[in-house]
Amino acid sequence: MTGKINGEPEVVRCHRLIGAEVRGIDLSRPLADSAFSRIYSALLEHKVIFFRNQHITTEQQVEFARRFGPLEQNPFRPQREDLPELQIIKNDKDHPVLSTDVWHADLTFRQFPTKFTILRCMQIPEYGGDTMWADMCAAYEGLSPKLREFITGLTALHDFKNFRVLYKGDEAKRAQLLQMEEMFPNPSHPVVITHPETRQRVLFVNRQFTLRLEGMSDLESRNLLEILYQQASIPEYQYRLSWQPGTLVVWDNRLCQHYAVNDYYPHPRHMERVAVAGDALPAFDPAAKPVRDFATIARVHAHEGLH
Ligand code: OGA
Ligand code: MN
Repeated sequence: MTGKINGEPEVVRCHRLIGAEVRGIDLSRPLADSAFSRIYSALLEHKVIFFRNQHITTEQQVEFARRFGPLEQNPFRPQREDLPELQIIKNDKDHPVLSTDVWHADLTFRQFPTKFTILRCMQIPEYGGDTMWADMCAAYEGLSPKLREFITGLTALHDFKNFRVLYKGDEAKRAQLLQMEEMFPNPSHPVVITHPETRQRVLFVNRQFTLRLEGMSDLESRNLLEILYQQASIPEYQYRLSWQPGTLVVWDNRLCQHYAVNDYYPHPRHMERVAVAGDALPAFDPAAKPVRDFATIARVHAHEGLH
């Protein structure tokens, strides 16, 4: 990186619960540890943060992402050979969206799901192509106390479900699928996790990758999961962003889920993506005290009886 060092960022809240803009930062320039640490705490507080007008190189994006932790490689997305941490998400007439238009947290089919995702817009479609995020702390806190109690301690199996279509076809494809299944045997994750840093409780099942609740019949699992999945669809828990080329977003997959709105086909949309590897997901801890009571608003809202 060259040029004048960045000053302190300005963080502008965009929503009661989720989403903030970080202003006054040019990621092509050096970033002091103090400025990075302000950005990091904004991420934990707002769950998803965005920067406008970051016309940076791919390498600069990767370098910024590394500040958040070691990067992971994505087994299902095209990668640049010389830069295997980079995923290119390019949709157009011949490459329809695969699976980002379902509510999810990233790669929960891994034993250690993705921690943070750093996504930058290269090209916007003629119209549409927004992304939405849902606050999964609010999703948990907005459930009735009875249901919160019931799901505490439950676990769910996860699977790379929708990506299985990539392996339809001949013998070779089936062999590849077998290899992927061996690489990603269905992990079991707590249905409610305690965020390791903020100590918030988070609903951690998602429509894209959760397979079933353990210790319950198929019928029970399917129906209860449906209730839990619907929490991500509550508009008051959501933040929706319209991209511009150069918009860069960072989100914490342990605090929110996302959904790429698929309303622009066949127009092209192009993103570059890097992700930070995760580690163990602590289960619900009854003694955990949220660092701040971020979720109060969500609880009050639910108790108004709107849902
Ligand atoms: C992702 C993803 C959303 C988008 O990068 O993990 O789901 O808007 N992308 O492209
Ligand atoms: Mn995703």
